[in-house]
Amino acid sequence: MLPRIVGHRGAALHAPENTLAGLREAARQGCRWVEIDVRLTADDGLVLMHDPTVDRTTTAAGRVRELALAEIAAMDAGARFGRAWTGEPVPALADAIAAAHALALHLDIELKCDPGDSATAAAALVREVGRAWTADAPPLISSFDHAALSAVRAARADLPVAVVTPALSDAWRAAFEALGAASLHVGARGLTREAVSPLVAEGIEIGVYTVNDAARARELLSWGVAGIFSDRPGAIAAAL
Ligand code: G3P
Ligand code: MG
Repeated sequence: MLPRIVGHRGAALHAPENTLAGLREAARQGCRWVEIDVRLTADDGLVLMHDPTVDRTTTAAGRVRELALAEIAAMDAGARFGRAWTGEPVPALADAIAAAHALALHLDIELKCDPGDSATAAAALVREVGRAWTADAPPLISSFDHAALSAVRAARADLPVAVVTPALSDAWRAAFEALGAASLHVGARGLTREAVSPLVAEGIEIGVYTVNDAARARELLSWGVAGIFSDRPGAIAAAL
């Protein structure tokens, strides 16, 4: 299911992460798939945001979960990345889906949850995807929060899910098997052929994040990893 290269947070080295400009840049670099992070707002909307706060990526401050969707949508998610990007807004998930459809991009929607929010976040995601997603193939829903993935599957068994884990040494298998997950997304740091090869032999589809070095991408793919997530997808594709 995963392509060899997925744009990470759009193309996060080349355009502000988790913005529509980032989706456009990933498409311009030749991506077919993009990973985005989404979070719940105070009014149970979903916006594209990696961190629990807006502080790092916007010129405003505050916790995403304590701000309304309209407040966050009015923030500037471009100026901190570079002056040329000033005014680039924080998209709602529905806007990102519409943009992805227009750009013929497939999405891996990574759901980020604050503690205690798994069920609410999953319900919001199912609602928004149900409303906005009109492409034939459903999006991939991924998360470190396995309870949220379980709630997504309970509501929409047709939505493929991916378990995200920082390392293969962590507990992921029980969730992976219970969910019937489509893929396993694992952090690149410290990943070895010895750890990866048996899983590939088992038929587990593995995606590795975040890989910005072409030699490392080549190595991982040679081990049978299905795809890598990169902040510079075009350069990696060219080097491969
Ligand atoms: O979904 C893969 C990857 O994005 C997970 O890590 O912190 O970049 O969201 P992070
Ligand atoms: Mg992510």
